[in-house]
Amino acid sequence: MQIKKVSCFGAGYVGGPTMAVMASKCPEQTFIVYDINEQQIQKWNSKQYPVYEENLDEYVNKTIHKNLIFTSDIDLALKDCDIAFLAVNTPSKTYGLGAESQLDISYIDSCLQSIKKYPLTKKLILVEKSTVPIKTADYINAVLQNLNICVLSNPEFLAEGTAIQDLLSPDRVIIGGPLESSKQLASLYEQWVQKDKIIFTNIYSAELSKIVANSFLAQRVSSINSISIICDKIGADVNEISQCVGSDSRIGNKFLKSSVGFGGSCLKKDLLCLIYLCESLQLDEVAQYWRQVYLLNEFQKQRFINLIISSMFNCLRNKVIVILGVTFKAKTNDTRESAALLIIKKLQEEQAILRIYDPQGKIDKLEQCQSLDGIFKGASALVILTEWEEFTKIDYVEAFNQMAKPAYCFDGRNLLQSDLMKSIGFLYYGLGRV
Ligand code: UDX
Ligand code: UDX
Ligand code: ADP
Repeated sequence: MQIKKVSCFGAGYVGGPTMAVMASKCPEQTFIVYDINEQQIQKWNSKQYPVYEENLDEYVNKTIHKNLIFTSDIDLALKDCDIAFLAVNTPSKTYGLGAESQLDISYIDSCLQSIKKYPLTKKLILVEKSTVPIKTADYINAVLQNLNICVLSNPEFLAEGTAIQDLLSPDRVIIGGPLESSKQLASLYEQWVQKDKIIFTNIYSAELSKIVANSFLAQRVSSINSISIICDKIGADVNEISQCVGSDSRIGNKFLKSSVGFGGSCLKKDLLCLIYLCESLQLDEVAQYWRQVYLLNEFQKQRFINLIISSMFNCLRNKVIVILGVTFKAKTNDTRESAALLIIKKLQEEQAILRIYDPQGKIDKLEQCQSLDGIFKGASALVILTEWEEFTKIDYVEAFNQMAKPAYCFDGRNLLQSDLMKSIGFLYYGLGRV
């Protein structure tokens, strides 16, 4: 079978950029992105994209209305379709068994119900693109048991801020499931990805690998954060430790930056999903091992809050505190699961007066400053929560001069030079640094 038509359920953060890049790399195929939310489709069609990613517009502009179509017409999506990606949201469940930890596949389920009703005229390869709980493929096969379908797992690995780059040159493409269909899906990727980067696995391995990859990333951040706590006690420097340890090629130097805690929509969600899986398999020791990665992240946030409050002698009431950064990392406008959410809440509880600034991010119902102009005037402390480059370019001598004394700086990203800040006069506190 030659693949001619590819559809995608879900025109969100994953579906939109993935299909735009695929369409540009696979000119022989047509890509239909379907969403139940008409407003979402309108946004794509009117250049008001619902997600911001560097270079996304270039890939959409090149292909839209040619071999890339955004629609809320399910017939258009399923008629003569060869491959359909499932890229709808799978958040943590908020109700019932596994609430807060198991992933909610009810949006996947609603896609399956639509497919079930549709009179398919040929074999359909159905691809899990969203992160799903292990064995979701079995569920899909059970729901669609009488239809001519084949289920594959092909997890996405794009990170916010680098989504287009991640799609253009992925470290690997994982395709799990029956080999014949897997090869057909691979024929799309092979139009721009080197063959040796495409890994074929069984379907459960593919489903699990996504959750494991994000859990390993979370584990690395928690590992280095745990070391930052030791460094604080003994006067070692965690940045130096990262360099020393990360230069062992068996360990590698990425994801070793100590921080106020990992955030974002994926790491915590997928880590909790892995913990839930272990618990449901009654693997208590394994569950505990991974739970500790999660608990350390919570501890790191709380530790930073305690550091601020105790350094300021437990007296923050009516003091002005400048918060620099609310997004969960730089180069995104996303604040989901950002450490800033908890830290801001705790400082508000101390009755501090907060001046909050972020070049891109906005927290719901929270008053924020539009720029850094005048933000330091009379402030007692500044707290860095996101590693925006803009924050390295601030004139800290001028900021110090404008601030009340003593002037504190709590650097939750180890973004600034400790000795320089101290020489200006700040009472400077980083993470695991002297
Ligand atoms: C280790 C360090 O690698 C070395 O840098 C340090 O100086 C001394 O300690 P060594 O004890 O010789 O070296 O063995 P290593 O190759 O690190 O393996 C340690 C153990 O881990 C072995 O039992 C090995 O079988 C096991 N291992 C290693 C695994 O089970 N899985 C792996 O993927 C790698
Ligand atoms: C992640 C995965 O990287 C991506 O492959 C997957 O598809 C989706 O989830 P994302 O959530 O966009 O991507 O962010 P990521 O870059 O992984 O960062 C996650 C969090 O870890 C951020 O809060 C970041 O600041 C923090 N982090 C990262 C650290 O604290 N230290 C580090 O060294 C690296
Ligand atoms: P992700 O980060 O996984 O891409 P998003 O929330 O950005 O998640 O996007 C998911 C999209 O899936 C949303 O635009 C939502 O409207 C859409 N969606 C949810 N359920 C369905 C469905 N049954 N059919 C088609 N689209 C759906």
